[in-house]
Amino acid sequence: MAHIVGAITTSHVPAIGRAIAKDLQNDSYWKPFFDGFPPVRQWLSEVKPDVAVVIYNDHGLNFFLDKMPTFSVGAAPSYRNADEGWGLADMAPFQGNQDLSWHLINSLVNDEFDITTCQEMLVDHAFCLPMALLWPDADARGSWPVTTVPVCLNTVQFPLPTAVRCYKLGEAIGRAVASWDSDARVVIIGTGGLSHQLDGQRAGFINKQFDLQFMDSLVRDPAWPTRFSIHELVEKVGTQGIELLMWLTTRAAMPGPARLLHSNYHIPISNTAAGLMLMEPAA
Ligand code: DHB
Ligand code: FE
Repeated sequence: MAHIVGAITTSHVPAIGRAIAKDLQNDSYWKPFFDGFPPVRQWLSEVKPDVAVVIYNDHGLNFFLDKMPTFSVGAAPSYRNADEGWGLADMAPFQGNQDLSWHLINSLVNDEFDITTCQEMLVDHAFCLPMALLWPDADARGSWPVTTVPVCLNTVQFPLPTAVRCYKLGEAIGRAVASWDSDARVVIIGTGGLSHQLDGQRAGFINKQFDLQFMDSLVRDPAWPTRFSIHELVEKVGTQGIELLMWLTTRAAMPGPARLLHSNYHIPISNTAAGLMLMEPAA
């Protein structure tokens, strides 16, 4: 049976793509952010996962406000990105893992999650930039070292799924991977957050105290964030900071206690509190 080797959570901000394109990793603004990644890359090079389940939110590239599934799963042979308006270059296509996609889809539907199945799917900055941060040489090489299964959560248009629901989705993803008839090593990657708000009266809002408490909870008490309603979470972390639901889902996909191997937190990257965590099953 397949095995979840670890969980990685990271922020995604389009400006990261421009910084990579302009080779600004050692620039004083960017260095504290990019310096978070080498330990995670080292771990990836040792653990060598075969498949990445990437849990993220689409920002209007694949889904727009007219049709917005709460949860969706990709089942395509490969995934491309496209211009979202941020001026980011296209990346090498991401190879899908259709066997895991269909197993996950069957398993989630059987587990009472009414997901949207996407046999074609464009992946936006929230999927592509974390991949480029984790495997920085892959795009230039033209191929990625893992096959992928995109899992999208709606965090952009109300009503949003509750933290409780996202936690249960994560648990169901974990059960699906564990029951997949494969000897693959699977890493769960969650992208988004931490606190940020891009518009309105609170534009620029960041809540370091809550972010750090949230990161700590994922290791010590992962169900802790489920005590908050969506509106309470938006109040605490901002309208876009609600993307931390992807971190919660990712952590819940890894059953049992977790060991924190690495973390980083840096304010701000663009308008966002940028966080990074690498966790492994403790058992
Ligand atoms: C920013 C953050 C995001 O999560 C996003 O999707 C787009 C932009 C930002 O801080 O600029
Ligand atoms: Fe975002």
